[in-house]
Amino acid sequence: MSLFEESEPETPLQRVRILIDQLNQWAHAYYVLDKSPVPDSEYDKLYRELVDLEEKYPDLQQPDSPSKRVGGAPLSQFEQVQHRVPMLSLGNAFEAEDVHAFERRIRDLGDLQAEKPIEFAVDPKFDGLAISIHYENGIMVRAITRGDGSTGEEVTANVKTIRNLPLKLTTGLSSLNLPEYLEVRGEILMYRDDFARMNQRQAEAGLKIFANPRNASAGTIRQLDPRIAASRPLRFFCYGAVIDREQQKKLKTQSALMGWLAQLGLPVSKLSQTAIGTSGLLGYYETIGAQRKSLPFEIDGVVYKVNSFDLQDQLGYVARAPRFAIAHKFPPDEVLTRLLNIEVQVGRTGSITPVAKLEPVKVGGVTVSSATLHNLDEIQRKDLRVGDQVLVRRAGDVIPEVLPFEGNVRPESSIPFFMPTVCPVCSSSLMKEEDGAVLRCAGGFSCRAQLTQSIIHFASRKAMDIEGLGDKIVETLVDKGLISNPADLYHLQFAQLVQLDRMGEKSVNNLLESIHKSKNASFARFIYGMGIRQVGEATARDLAQHFKTLEALISATGESLLEVNDVGPVVAQSILDFFADTRNLEVLNGLVKAGVKWETEAPTSELDESHPFFGKSFVLTGTLEKLSRDDASALIIAKGGKVIGSVSKKTDFLLAGSAAGSKLQKAADLGVKILSELEFETLLR
Ligand code: IVH
Repeated sequence: MSLFEESEPETPLQRVRILIDQLNQWAHAYYVLDKSPVPDSEYDKLYRELVDLEEKYPDLQQPDSPSKRVGGAPLSQFEQVQHRVPMLSLGNAFEAEDVHAFERRIRDLGDLQAEKPIEFAVDPKFDGLAISIHYENGIMVRAITRGDGSTGEEVTANVKTIRNLPLKLTTGLSSLNLPEYLEVRGEILMYRDDFARMNQRQAEAGLKIFANPRNASAGTIRQLDPRIAASRPLRFFCYGAVIDREQQKKLKTQSALMGWLAQLGLPVSKLSQTAIGTSGLLGYYETIGAQRKSLPFEIDGVVYKVNSFDLQDQLGYVARAPRFAIAHKFPPDEVLTRLLNIEVQVGRTGSITPVAKLEPVKVGGVTVSSATLHNLDEIQRKDLRVGDQVLVRRAGDVIPEVLPFEGNVRPESSIPFFMPTVCPVCSSSLMKEEDGAVLRCAGGFSCRAQLTQSIIHFASRKAMDIEGLGDKIVETLVDKGLISNPADLYHLQFAQLVQLDRMGEKSVNNLLESIHKSKNASFARFIYGMGIRQVGEATARDLAQHFKTLEALISATGESLLEVNDVGPVVAQSILDFFADTRNLEVLNGLVKAGVKWETEAPTSELDESHPFFGKSFVLTGTLEKLSRDDASALIIAKGGKVIGSVSKKTDFLLAGSAAGSKLQKAADLGVKILSELEFETLLR
């Protein structure tokens, strides 16, 4: 019988069956196999036909009809159901050594040939909510949350709404008979993109916003109205099933079980594989770890399971976890800690920033004890108060973020945070920036904090590169009143410096020598060192090349600034503001008088325009072997290229050293040409 051709008239029951089978097949192709078998409109057309028939002939209702997903009336409560076989937990491994110990234990306890490597089935550790789903004669009849492992809640109506979960198992593909009773286990989760869109819709409707996909999945499954579950983008991944000895004998391995479950139409992740020995396990951990950020869903580690059911049986269980399986966790990128204080810092340009002081915690592999809170709006939006329990999130090389913790309990004495009304360092008044978010101290160099930070910046490696002038020494010099602007550096005397703590004669001499040497730094470094807001290294180089002399730069007009590469109205205004401030002009004057002079970089006309670097933009990432990053930048610039900080579509080349991270991934995604150090050198020549 066919869907579209006119043939023998079908009975309504036959037609209902045909429609259901076709719709389920399309849904499986779409949600499980990631294919688009037909346009949505075609699916909708058959779906409407089915629903019309079901309304007209209520007796023809089928348990696997897609209309059964949409959700019936809300429940008044969930029923508690005991699991037939408890849902256990897994032991954890955090380090490679824990994985070696796992394999050694298996060798000690299992009946194994000495040299024979052990085979494992390996999966991602899905960061969602565990569920057990029961099929009777292939029809989904019940779904139970993990609960305490022995007893869970029956949430069948909500689970039926999950689009990639079959209401009826596919038979026929598999050589193994479908058992009368099959209990499938896995994890319910949401894809990151779906989650973001859902949260957006929730926000627009003034409804609850969820902190992460896991909370959203758990919250959705544990609410009583299946219509709400139907409107949320839940998904399911299968990681196992409860099977009897008979089936174990036939299937033999966990990986064969997963293959069979996939044949039944259940969603099995493409990342589920096998691996041999500890080295295979650690290799899988590395591979999945590297993909973690780009996977569509969140995972918190990988799971290793002895593949052979026989060996699994020999190993057995400890307490509530199997000896034959273990979860190898990734370093957590979200950890609970306490907000000890909110301090207010004054930056180089006077910006006043609240900073969270935290009980130190290890997040994503590094210890975090403080994190910026950006501004008061942010603190109010997150409703953070000193003393709160908070979550610290640090994903990859991203700066740590402080988030509110839902389970936080506040004492009555807790009070909201307020920003100071005057600068906490110099008591000058604070000005609010036009966009309203940033507060700034009006003190300029009369503010100790701004002065210290400005001098640290002026002396830094990418600016005047004054070796030996570290943060601590600058702080001491400012505190003792020995310098009150950058020009004063050039008048420091041996006798003054040698009195300072931890400054021996040799280091004083070295410092004076490098201060002296910095007088000949390039014009670009000098401009960068001035610390004009919005002017980074690259802009400083462009300005140096364009204006060539300090006089020309100081007297530049808005229009002439806009002629410079990458200078837009905001940067131009910031430069104009800087030179309109007579205090800055006085400092520049002082520097020139102290003998700071510079050579302008080679003018563009002298460059070889046919060189492959000419006019090209580069981003550098990772560790180079032969060259320092600064040397590589200098070589690029000398050939008329440009070095920029972040990868975009406009980037021409990414020069990638070892241990390159997110920039490499981004460049690959955007199709930016990636150069190794060797290729770079070859092109350079
Ligand atoms: S196997 C005997 N495989 O992790 C336990 N569990 O700590 C069998 N989980 O609550 C579990 N991904 O929900 C297994 N690929 C995976 C998993 C996985 C996530 C969850 C599971 C369980 C918890 C155990």
